[in-house]
Amino acid sequence: MDREAFDSLVTHMDTAMIVLTASDGRERAGCMVGFHTQCSIEPRQYAIWVSKTNHTYDVAIRSRHLAVHLLAEQDRDLAEHFGGLTGDEVDKFADIEWHPGPDGLPLLARCPNRVVLRVVAQHDDGGDHVCVIAEPIDVSTTVELTPLRFHSVERMEPGHEPD
Ligand SMILES: Cc1cc2nc3c(=O)[nH]c(=O)nc-3n(C[C@H](O)[C@H](O)[C@H](O)COP(=O)(O)O)c2cc1C
Repeated sequence: MDREAFDSLVTHMDTAMIVLTASDGRERAGCMVGFHTQCSIEPRQYAIWVSKTNHTYDVAIRSRHLAVHLLAEQDRDLAEHFGGLTGDEVDKFADIEWHPGPDGLPLLARCPNRVVLRVVAQHDDGGDHVCVIAEPIDVSTTVELTPLRFHSVERMEPGHEPD
């Protein structure tokens, strides 16, 4: 298998980047995610893949609710905050505006395009990311939005490398 060709093909898809947040009722966490997609129409469901090495992983697998925040082009600083720092070392929620959703789930004030999800399943196939499948329970959107896409952040150094 030509891994470079595969990587190039996926890069051309130029995914819109999100910030995933989680709360298990005790601890908050969040990271930038490129692996995410709608995965069912009826019922509406969404899948997010979380790296096992991330601080967010430990919290997300214990969380009943998750939030997906769609990043806009002007949110590069937020992308660096959530994708370049790790909750192992810093409290990512100390210096940004957020308000609590279900179970204390952090909802980012800067990101009005977001969906709050209720977790329905997790799938670990032995890879370096675990799939979390969830159903939307609350959605907010704005009319104007140019998403921050993968090509804008692909050179960013992640706070945690996957194993
Ligand atoms: C371009 C890019 C895409 C990323 N995609 C994912 C992803 O799909 N899933 C994931 O769990 N982490 C992804 N990350 C990595 C995390 O955002 C990053 O390691 C973060 O610092 C982890 O923070 P945490 O340790 O507080 O959870 C990505 C990082 C970058 C720069």
